[in-house]
Amino acid sequence: MKENLKVLFVCLGNICRSPMAEFVLKDLIKKDDKLKNIKVSSVATLNEEPGSDMYYLAKEKLTEKGIPFEKRKARQITIEDYKENDFIICMSDSNLKDIKRIIGEDTENKVYKLLEFSNLQRDVEDPWYTRDFEKAYNDILMGCNSFIQYVKENELI
Ligand code: 4NP
Repeated sequence: MKENLKVLFVCLGNICRSPMAEFVLKDLIKKDDKLKNIKVSSVATLNEEPGSDMYYLAKEKLTEKGIPFEKRKARQITIEDYKENDFIICMSDSNLKDIKRIIGEDTENKVYKLLEFSNLQRDVEDPWYTRDFEKAYNDILMGCNSFIQYVKENELI
């Protein structure tokens, strides 16, 4: 059992999937007092959108679902992020490869793909390419709920 559990979501640009996951998980945490010591943030593997706010269609989807969000600045993952966080949760096999390239081997077994917590092997829908923000949101919500279940079952908080 830890006092604080730090979760870092990762995707390619840090403007669609990982910030959506950040705000969905923050909203779920807010609704459950037992989870209040989970800290959530998100980063990119790419360094091409630094400082960018969330993509407008991701914001529109969160607004439609009643999930609050704030203005944010995309940034790339660092070695310090790996050290400081307990769970590094990415969206796809491609993210896994990029994370490994930037931070090296996952020696502390902290890196996961979000849908692993739902016992699914597949990637989260990538709405940058498919434009299907509804499917991405549903994948993210399912993954975040499964992550919370994992944390509770394993008494991590
Ligand atoms: P995200 O979406 O990784 O879910 O934030 C993308 C955002 C930007 C790019 C690709 C994916 N891009 O190539 O610029």
